[in-house]
Amino acid sequence: MAKTKSVPDNEKVAIVTGAARGIGLAIAEELLSKGMTVVAVDLKEDALTEAANKLGNPEKFSTAACDVSDSEGFTAVVDDTAEKFGRLDVLVNNAGITRDNLVMLISDEDWDLVLNVNLKSAFIGSRAAAKVMMRQRCGSIVNMASYSGIEGNPGQANYAASKAGMIGLTKTMAKELAKRGVRSNAIAPGFIQTDMTDILGDAAKEMAMVQIPMKKLGQPSDIAKAVGFLASNDSGYITGQVLSVDGGMHT
Ligand code: NAI
Repeated sequence: MAKTKSVPDNEKVAIVTGAARGIGLAIAEELLSKGMTVVAVDLKEDALTEAANKLGNPEKFSTAACDVSDSEGFTAVVDDTAEKFGRLDVLVNNAGITRDNLVMLISDEDWDLVLNVNLKSAFIGSRAAAKVMMRQRCGSIVNMASYSGIEGNPGQANYAASKAGMIGLTKTMAKELAKRGVRSNAIAPGFIQTDMTDILGDAAKEMAMVQIPMKKLGQPSDIAKAVGFLASNDSGYITGQVLSVDGGMHT
């Protein structure tokens, strides 16, 4: 029998990346509503301050400005969080960017940038978090993949590759860490209404709508609820899964 432990959800400590706005901010709110202590990580310091003012709850919510693709910086945030709170139970690797173009037009720089911010960051954070979680014999890592990473999407070769990589990372970590009580799952959102999708033109949005069986865009809270489930003890026997939250696009 594997020796694993569990801790009540309201005693958990969580890190959420890309949490200054959009889906990440909604995830931070959802985890706070479960009584978790949340450290919000983002590149944008001003936006983090705004988020902190909006959410209140300074006893449970704090922020750390950091580029998650910077190995030293992000590892330090994970290590400092575990030291400050004495534990780390949840890591949500949510920060992500797009630099869309047709494959023959993607520059080396835009390839590297998207792969580093979206995928390498999840590896950096998970490596640091897993050390703490394995010692604790419990923890949950949730990675933000995408429908594009499952199905591919014209104009998004770099983004889709990063999100497909996220799924491989998720499944491998699940198999490596399961017997130490550490779970690893991914969410694959479809089209969610955030600043990231607001920049799409009307034609792209109409195209998206054609693909969505439920005929509406998802909301950040739809993703946050799914992350809340995977972060909580309610999903204690679930690991290595990719949960699509996409209005029925991927079946
Ligand atoms: P968003 O652009 O609204 O928010 C992303 C956040 O990540 C921003 O606050 C940004 O400052 C932060 N960020 C970017 N680069 C960073 C870095 N190097 N270090 C730290 N923070 C950084 O995006 P949204 O829509 O909330 O997306 C969140 C996640 O969900 C992303 O991983 C995205 O790929 C994924 N996703 C979103 C979909 C959508 O339809 N909005 C669909 C599928 C996946």
